[in-house]
Amino acid sequence: MSSTTIQPKSNVTPVADFLPLYGTDYVEFYVGNAKQAAHFYKTAFGFQSLAYSGPETGNKDFASYVIRQNKLTFVLTTPIRSDNAVAEHIRVHGDGVKFLALKVEDAADAWKQTTQRGGKSFKEPETLTDPDGEVVMSGIHTYGDTVHLFIERKNYNGIFLPGYVKWETQYNPTETGLQYVDHCVGNVGWNQMNPWVKFYEDVMGFKNILSFDDNDISTEYSALMSKVMSNGNGYVKFPINEPAEGKKKSQVEEYLEFYNGEGVQHVALATNNIIETVTALKNRGVEFLKIPASYYADVLSRVGHIDEDLEPLQELGILIDRDDEGYLLQIFSKPLQDRPTVFFEIIQRKGAKSFGKGNFKALFESLEREQALRGNL
Ligand code: FE2
Repeated sequence: MSSTTIQPKSNVTPVADFLPLYGTDYVEFYVGNAKQAAHFYKTAFGFQSLAYSGPETGNKDFASYVIRQNKLTFVLTTPIRSDNAVAEHIRVHGDGVKFLALKVEDAADAWKQTTQRGGKSFKEPETLTDPDGEVVMSGIHTYGDTVHLFIERKNYNGIFLPGYVKWETQYNPTETGLQYVDHCVGNVGWNQMNPWVKFYEDVMGFKNILSFDDNDISTEYSALMSKVMSNGNGYVKFPINEPAEGKKKSQVEEYLEFYNGEGVQHVALATNNIIETVTALKNRGVEFLKIPASYYADVLSRVGHIDEDLEPLQELGILIDRDDEGYLLQIFSKPLQDRPTVFFEIIQRKGAKSFGKGNFKALFESLEREQALRGNL
């Protein structure tokens, strides 16, 4: 039944990576109210204030708040006027991820390599300077209105980017142990998964490392298909989902309807101690999908021995899965805004390199209960 495939390790001499990536530089959200969103992400998730750009710094069209926790950097941007592209993006999509910015050594070359392979330019290489040095930035479009920026900051010592000032504040909630972006998932339309897989292969040199079809990811009612794309060193992983035929509307269809197009479905944030992190997040008001007690009745017979006690995992609703290399612990938040669109996954990897296939059924049944409550199933 299952068609999950793990690509065999190739014996041929590896070809030089034409787009070396050194991880996620930042994730930028366009939001309806960046001042309040920054407060929410600081309070609920333990991010720290880092930098600010707005009318006071000469930015006449929008305001951006930069927050950070370990290697995670988020930018929250809102328009302060109605007649610009940021305002239009929010009118169409609501709050969502606009930029997945990637760290590169050479942003001009990243732009050249990707655009000559068919990537559609969003931004030609531009050098931004201030007294702290220079940043070179370029970018290409991906699915929907989402953009990959290439950020070269090896000659920059400033707080974030030229144009930003340090954001000083008395309000610094403690961190929750979130570390870095593990992966970032896109939802695309019907029959669009394979064209976007090809985009990541051809334009960005990524490889398809895992595939799931509707036999792997289906419940009685709804289904989806997914392929995981990874860059050469594995620092950047982008699973791509598309809806599949089911008796009722799938979570991907609900997303596409309310986001009004393709976009980022979830950002997975890594932690080194998921029990401590999720306990802190729940205490701060973050809401997670609920998993029925029946899931825990036989989970250990499926995944074998784990280091953690099962009781706190069950109490918090944390899911467990195992692959050939180890196991992982994961949990999914409810949507981060009123539209049922982008959400977070919190993940702790203990050797496993996969994405929790063994949890898909329990997870999607939980998502369907939420969809039904919204009247969207
Ligand atoms: Fe995920």
